[in-house]
Amino acid sequence: MARYLVVYGTTEGQTRRIAGFLRDRLAAHGDSVSLHDATLVPAELDLAQFDGVVVAGSLHVGRHQTAVEHFVRTQLPGLQRLPSAFVSVSLSAAGDEEDRAGAQLCVDRFLAATGWQPQLVELAAGAFRYTEYDFFKRWALKLIAKQKGAPTDTGGDWELTDWAALDAFVQRFMRLVAPAPA
Ligand SMILES: Cc1cc2nc3c(=O)[nH]c(=O)nc-3n(C[C@H](O)[C@H](O)[C@H](O)COP(=O)(O)O)c2cc1C
Repeated sequence: MARYLVVYGTTEGQTRRIAGFLRDRLAAHGDSVSLHDATLVPAELDLAQFDGVVVAGSLHVGRHQTAVEHFVRTQLPGLQRLPSAFVSVSLSAAGDEEDRAGAQLCVDRFLAATGWQPQLVELAAGAFRYTEYDFFKRWALKLIAKQKGAPTDTGGDWELTDWAALDAFVQRFMRLVAPAPA
């Protein structure tokens, strides 16, 4: 039985939903999964207790959450010893090739700054959470949505997350942690 750790950072809640999905899919065949918000990681957390780690965070103005960066920096030696993966949640991930290249650039900067070299990186589409935004965020995101042909009805939330793609990512990661016997 494999033991997985999932740590996530979120600003409007979509990465929490995604991390919950990752937990459920990783645990679907009886493996154990610990799930932590990056702002609430217990001081005594020891990565040696796990067989694989997934870290998830979302992009805001080109950067992932400070708490996610802090987790990666402080746990770097443990992370480098284990199979690990980074899930970067953004709206660019749901866009065209240029948008996705932009999201990848933000990931590359994050990894270069922290020194972490995860085996897998997944660019995951996030959500327009209009109901969570203040006036300015709502205005800015509506403008972006308009430019990209995305939903501009600010009366609701619009999830662009591709759950099937995330499931495929989970299967790839599980094969990396516990390869099927030859
Ligand atoms: C103020 C603000 C800034 C954002 N900046 C970016 C960005 O630079 N690039 C991007 O692709 N998405 C950006 N997004 C979209 C978020 O990454 C997306 O909504 C994601 O689902 C947020 O995840 P969370 O709810 O877990 O925080 C931004 C969203 C907000 C509200």
